Amino acid sequence: MSDETYYRDHWLDIDPERIEGYEEMFRWRPEMAALLAPAEIEAGQTVVDYGCGPGMLAIELARRVGEQGWVHGVDINEMFIERAAKNAAAEGVGGRIRFHCIEASELPLEDASVDRIICKNVLEYVDDIGATFKEFRRALKPGGRLHAIDSDWGMLVVEPIGTERLAEIFAAASIAYKTPLVGRMLYGLMREAGFQEVRVKMVAGPDTKGRAAPILFNMAKYARHSGRIDEATVDAFVDDVRAAIDAETYLLVLPQFLVTGLA
Ligand SMILES: C[S@@+](CC[C@H](N)C(=O)[O-])C[C@H]1O[C@@H](n2cnc3c(N)ncnc32)[C@H](O)[C@@H]1O
Repeated sequence: MSDETYYRDHWLDIDPERIEGYEEMFRWRPEMAALLAPAEIEAGQTVVDYGCGPGMLAIELARRVGEQGWVHGVDINEMFIERAAKNAAAEGVGGRIRFHCIEASELPLEDASVDRIICKNVLEYVDDIGATFKEFRRALKPGGRLHAIDSDWGMLVVEPIGTERLAEIFAAASIAYKTPLVGRMLYGLMREAGFQEVRVKMVAGPDTKGRAAPILFNMAKYARHSGRIDEATVDAFVDDVRAAIDAETYLLVLPQFLVTGLA
């Protein structure tokens, strides 16, 4: 994998162990409802889950749009699409979701055909956010709503690791993100793309149990892959995160920007 396109390639070529981890990491939990609230999902809508992964959010969306609604789950990874279809069938909503594997950001959908596009933790990986937003506006009905949920990796807090060590790991791991500070940029990018009534909210729930620690272990894998940091530094980071979880001194906060706008 070349460094220049690693931000995309690491999603195309995923080892089975990491895929298994994502099934758990992306599981829909009722406390995540706050992330979705600004999208105003209602029965009967047609909704896109852009970058759907193994389909957990798409399944929740299918429950919310109900029998009269429809969900399109879209992703660049074929394995995720296959798993998502199986997961949706197992949850009894397979008939209300169509999953699409795409190569670039083009949506296999008609102009002005969808009510909502939800894009959760994906935009930091796309080639060109402006072009992706243009494509979203094409597919949204007039007055339809884009709801982007995304991190800002510059706001990540991991204690007791501290700012300097985290910055060192992230500097090496940053090849895995095209736009790592996407969270703070979403408002301006949506305004520039012509979305109306753009609104911003933030959710920043702390993790003290280690539930979100897999994002740090993935970051460690990206840092190792980069070759820009020595192995011992990455090993010590992973060991110290694990030790802090065991000692109950660990705290992770990764604020999520929730940004909505009308097409
Ligand atoms: C961090 S995961 C988020 C998955 C899901 N949205 C969630 O929050 O549970 C990022 C997802 O975006 C997908 N992805 C990465 N680049 C993409 C692109 N350019 N277009 C569409 N999906 C992409 C990946 O394959 C992966 O499923």
